[in-house]
Amino acid sequence: MENSAMFLEARGLSRVYRRGSEDIHALHEVSFSIQRGEFVSFMGPSGSGKTTLVNLLGCLDNPTSGELDLAGRKIFGNGNVLSERDLTRIRREIFGYVFQNFYLIPTLTVLENVALPFAFYRKPGARLEEVRRLLAMLGMERRMDHLPAQISGGEMQRVAIARALVNRPEILLADEPTGNLDTTRSAEIGEILQHLNRNEGLTIIMVSHNPNLARLGGRLIEMRDGKVFK
Ligand SMILES: Nc1ncnc2c1ncn2[C@@H]1O[C@H](COP(=O)(O)OP(=O)(O)OP(=O)(O)O)[C@@H](O)[C@H]1O
Ligand SMILES: [Mg+2]
Repeated sequence: MENSAMFLEARGLSRVYRRGSEDIHALHEVSFSIQRGEFVSFMGPSGSGKTTLVNLLGCLDNPTSGELDLAGRKIFGNGNVLSERDLTRIRREIFGYVFQNFYLIPTLTVLENVALPFAFYRKPGARLEEVRRLLAMLGMERRMDHLPAQISGGEMQRVAIARALVNRPEILLADEPTGNLDTTRSAEIGEILQHLNRNEGLTIIMVSHNPNLARLGGRLIEMRDGKVFK
């Protein structure tokens, strides 16, 4: 990937959900840009369009209109929509995803859950050693053979973060990563994210209701009624 100054640029992104005869305008012509290495947090009331927006930024959903450039490439925009195959490649090569519900597979161990992406999209040089290194970095070296039911919520989110990092993403996209965690566990996850941003150069795009967490990144974008306020 080329090293463009504006890593991600959204121009006039809108998303309308159609439910029967009803149109829900979840996002209205949102524009902003994010540079490589930034840690950006989105905050705003429930229903303000945060998840809708980060799903578009993460190429998990298509906008109704507007443009999105990523690493110098047009992802969405006038007659320039990528194939599903290209989108799949971008999702796995550029992004790591973390969600409020950790989505661990209950019958696989911690180690196996984190190694799972290897089974689908192997990047050269990716090995089980990397899984162990990531889990150790996240303080999970003594839980690798546990099942998800045998670890705490905070630990489950660490596992989900390790899994998101396994493909060496350029951007970590986290939608309410601590939504199911208490204050102490949230702060620990916050420290991990800050470490990944500062020391590993990971670009982070996060949604959080928790002001302490949202402030960590240094750049806060407010959302209201499907619009952004910088
Ligand atoms: N798949 C969908 N179909 C129809 N409407 C939707 C869909 N997803 C979201 N919406 C609506 O779009 C608006 C924005 O929703 P979104 O999930 O982006 O909000 P949010 O800011 O993430 O809220 P929360 O903080 O509760 O997660 C809401 O009015 C929601 O009801
Ligand atoms: Mg949401």
